[in-house]
Amino acid sequence: MSKILVWDLPVRLFHWTFAGSLSGAMAIGFLVDDDSPLFQFHMLLGLVAAFALAGRLVLGVVGSRYNRFSSLPLAPGEVVAYLVGSVVGGAKRYIGHNPGTAVVSLAMFALVPLLIASGAGWMGGLGEELHEGLAIALLVAIGAHLVGIAWHTVRHREAIALSMITGRKDGPEGEGLKSARPVWALAMLIGGGAWVAALFANHNTAAGTVKLPLLGTVVSLGENEGAEGGEENEGGAGKTVGGGKSGERGKHGEKDDD
Ligand code: HEM
Ligand code: HEM
Repeated sequence: MSKILVWDLPVRLFHWTFAGSLSGAMAIGFLVDDDSPLFQFHMLLGLVAAFALAGRLVLGVVGSRYNRFSSLPLAPGEVVAYLVGSVVGGAKRYIGHNPGTAVVSLAMFALVPLLIASGAGWMGGLGEELHEGLAIALLVAIGAHLVGIAWHTVRHREAIALSMITGRKDGPEGEGLKSARPVWALAMLIGGGAWVAALFANHNTAAGTVKLPLLGTVVSLGENEGAEGGEENEGGAGKTVGGGKSGERGKHGEKDDD
C-alpha cells in the first residue's frame, strides 16, 4: 500500500464548489430571515451548486476512472455487506468510492435538483411543502457523509479527509490515476467561473430575479411581495412574479387571504 492518485483535479474542484455553495445556501436558509436582502444569496448559491452538479454529471460519463458512475459500487447486496462490515468489522476496502459514499453522493445529487425545483416554485404548492423537508434530508446526507469520513479515519487510521485536497489515498500501486487532468480542471475553472460571474451579474436585486446564463430562464428569488411589507398583511396571494413562491411560507405570518 502506498499513496496513489484517486481523485483528479476536476472532481476535487467540483467537490469544494459543491460543498461550499451548499453550506452557504443551507446556512442562509436555516439562519437568515427570508425577508433579509441577504436571503437572495441563498437562491444564488443553490443555483451555483446545481451548475456544479451539471458538470459532475458530465464527469460521471467521461471523467477519469473513479469518477465514472459505472465504477460506483451500488449493488444492494454490496451496499448492505459494506455497511454491516464497517460496523462489525471485515468490510472490503475500496480504491475509489466505497458503497457508503456512493449511496450518499447519489442521494445528494438527486436532492439538489429537487431543492431547486421546489425552491424556484416550479413544483407549485407541492414544492412549498417539500422544500424544507428536502433541505433537512440533504442535511442528514451531509451528516452521514461526515460521520463516514470520521469513522474511516478512526478505523483505518488514514486521514481520508485530506484525500479530497491532495487527491491521494492508500491503495495498491498500479491502481492510481496516471494524470490529475489539470487542463480539464483549468477549463472547468474558467468556464464555471465565467458562468458564476454572469449569474451574479444577471442578478437584479430590486426585482428579486436572476436570469440564468446560457439558459436564459428567469428565476424569481423568493417572496416578492415582501419588499416593504408588513408582516401580517400578506393578503395578496398571486403577486409573485415569474414563478416564485406565493409568499405565505415565511418564518412568520401563518395567516393569509383574510
Ligand atoms: C456541505 C458539505 C459537503 C458536501 C455536500 C460533500 C459532498 C461530497 C460528494 C458529493 C462526494 C462525492 C464526490 C464525487 O465523486 O463527486 C464527496 C466525497 C468526499 N468528500 Fe465531501 N462533501 C462535503 C463536505 C466534506 C468535508 C468537510 C470533507 C473533509 C473533511 C469532505 C471530504 C470528502 C472525501 C474525502 C470524499 C471522498 C470519499 C471517498 O473516499 O469516497 N467532504 N463529498
Ligand atoms: C440546493 C439548494 C438549496 C438548499 C439546500 C435550500 C435550503 C433551504 C432551507 C434550509 C430553507 C429554510 C427552511 C425553513 O427553515 O423554513 C430554505 C428556504 C427557502 N428557500 Fe431554499 N434551498 C436551496 C435552493 C433554493 C432555491 C434555488 C430557491 C429559489 C429560487 C430557494 C427558495 C427558498 C425560499 C423562498 C425559502 C423561504 C421560504 C421557506 O422558509 O420555506 N431555495 N431553503
